[in-house]
Amino acid sequence: MYRRKGLRLFAVVAAFALIAAACGGGGGETTTTGGEGTGTTAAAASEVEVFSWWTGGGEAAGLEAMIKVFNEKYPNIKFVNSAVAGGAGTNARAVLASRLQANDPPDSWQGHAGWELIGTYVAADQIEPLNFLYDQEGWLDVMPDTLIPLISKDGNIYSVPVNIHRANVLWMNPTVLSDNGISVPTTLDEFFTALDTLKANGMDAPLAMGEQWTSMHLLETIMLASLGADGWNSLWDGTGDWSSAEVTKALENFAKVLDYTNSDASALSWQDAGQLVLDGSAAFNIMGDWQEGFFRELGKTPKTDYDWAPVPGTPGTFQFLSDSFVLAKGAPHRDAAIAWLTVAGSREGQDAFNPVKGSIPARNDGDRSLYGEYLLSAMDDWASNTVVGSLTHGVVANDSWKSEIDTALGLFLSNKDVAAFQDALVAAAAASPNQ
Ligand code: GAL
Repeated sequence: MYRRKGLRLFAVVAAFALIAAACGGGGGETTTTGGEGTGTTAAAASEVEVFSWWTGGGEAAGLEAMIKVFNEKYPNIKFVNSAVAGGAGTNARAVLASRLQANDPPDSWQGHAGWELIGTYVAADQIEPLNFLYDQEGWLDVMPDTLIPLISKDGNIYSVPVNIHRANVLWMNPTVLSDNGISVPTTLDEFFTALDTLKANGMDAPLAMGEQWTSMHLLETIMLASLGADGWNSLWDGTGDWSSAEVTKALENFAKVLDYTNSDASALSWQDAGQLVLDGSAAFNIMGDWQEGFFRELGKTPKTDYDWAPVPGTPGTFQFLSDSFVLAKGAPHRDAAIAWLTVAGSREGQDAFNPVKGSIPARNDGDRSLYGEYLLSAMDDWASNTVVGSLTHGVVANDSWKSEIDTALGLFLSNKDVAAFQDALVAAAAASPNQ
C-alpha cells in the first residue's frame, strides 16, 4: 500500500532530519540520487538540493526521469533529492515552511503556479526572479500565456513550470460500469443516478475517496460542476457572493456526493482510493491526472482497466494546476540550482518527466508521440476548453484562505451542516482575500 510506504519513508526522512539537526548539520531531510556512474572519478564539483513531495505512485518515477536528463547534462553536479512523502504536499509544505523559517532553504523547491507561489514565497521574499533565465532560454515563446501572469509579480517571473495537471477528472472502472448497465455520466444528475444504481446493486461506496485533501479536491470539482466556470472564478476574484443560493446548492451537491464515499476515506491515500477503482470495489474516483501516472506505473491498460471523463457537469472546462520550481534567495548552490531549472524548463526535461508523471508539458512544443491516449486528450482539452484554476493545488487562493477553508471542511466532514459550512466559507473569504 502506498500510504504505508509513504509513512515509512516519512519516518525515515524525519529520522534523517533529527540526526542532521543533532549533528548541527544543515540540509536535513535528504535522500541522495544520481551523481554516480558519470564516467568520471572526481567527486561531484557541486550539488543541488531539490525539494518536492514526489515520493511514490508514478510521481517519484516522473521525477527520476527528469533527474536522469539532469545527470546526463550535468554529470559533475550531484542531485540531492529531498522529497518528503504525502499527497498534495501536506507533509512537505510543513517541513519546507520550517526550513525557510530557520533560514535553511533547499536550493530549489516545488510550488504551485498561482496564489500559493505569489501569496507565500514571493510575498515573503524567499525566491529570486528568473527573468534572466526566461530571456536566455527563450521560454516566453513556448510557455502558455495563461501561466505567466500566475507566476509573475510586478514584471518579475518567479518560477519554472514543469507541467499542467488537470484536476477535474472522473476515473472509472469500465467493467463495473458495463456490468451495471451504466454509461459515462456527463451531468451531476446522471452522476447521482449512476451512484444510486450502483448502491441499489449492492456497492456501498461507489465513489472512492481518500484523506482530507482529496475531499477538498472533490469539493472544488463539484462546486465547479454546480456553479460553472464563471461562477467558480467569481468566488476568487472578489466579484462573487459566497452566501448566494447557488453556493448553497453547490454545497448541498457536495454533501450528497459524500453519501456515496467510503467510510475509511481519512485513512487512505489518493493511490489507495485509485486502487479501489482498479479492484472494482468502487466504480469512480475524482482525482487529478497524476492518478493515471499511478495506474500506468502499475502496468494497467487505458480504456480496459480504467477509463476517464471530465467530472460530471464540467465537460468543456479544464480545471488546472501547474507544478513549478523556484530558485531560493540565498540558495546554497545557486549555479547548480540554475542548471536544474534549465533542465526543468527544457523540452527534453519536460518530455521525459510528463509522460511518466501523468501530466502534459507546460511548454507548448512537447513531442506528442511520447504521450499516451489520456494525455493526448488532455493536451487537446487544455488547448480548446475554458481554463479555470484549482483551489486544493494552489492556483485560486492564497495559503491562509485555503487553510481556513480546510478547517471549515474538516468540521463539515464530521457534522455535515451545510449552513454552518457556508457561513464559515463566507467568513474565510472576508478574512483572507487574495492580495
Ligand atoms: C499536487 C501536485 C501533483 C501531485 C499531487 C498528488 O498538489 O501538483 O503534482 O503531486 O499533488 O501528490
